[in-house]
Amino acid sequence: MKATLQLCAQSELLEGCARGFPEHGIFIVRHTGQVYAWRDACPHYGDTPLAWRRDAYLNVDGTRIVCAAHGAQFEPDTGLCIIGPCLGQALIRVPIVLTDKGQIELESGTQPNIDPDAFQENH
Ligand code: FES
Repeated sequence: MKATLQLCAQSELLEGCARGFPEHGIFIVRHTGQVYAWRDACPHYGDTPLAWRRDAYLNVDGTRIVCAAHGAQFEPDTGLCIIGPCLGQALIRVPIVLTDKGQIELESGTQPNIDPDAFQENH
């Protein structure tokens, strides 16, 4: 049985929206129906969080991830920087699980910066 960390319900993440989990250093995005999770660290300056306020990770139309520090823009599905000072570099993807109970979860061992005690055994 794997230990997981519940992030939120799938229904809470609408198309073209993002949600941050600063306590875990990650954020999630729903783009063209798929959910992607990324480390909240801009490749321009390694540990710089991207959002200027809570959950503000996307441009106005929700089609690109934007770093508030210097304006780098990333594809939500690949994490690749396509405009800005870190052109050609990419965000670090975080593996997630969409459960049949409608949750978005992280699996233990997938994020070294998250306290292992935050994960709970599934039963
Ligand atoms: S730190 Fe993100 S664009 Fe500079």
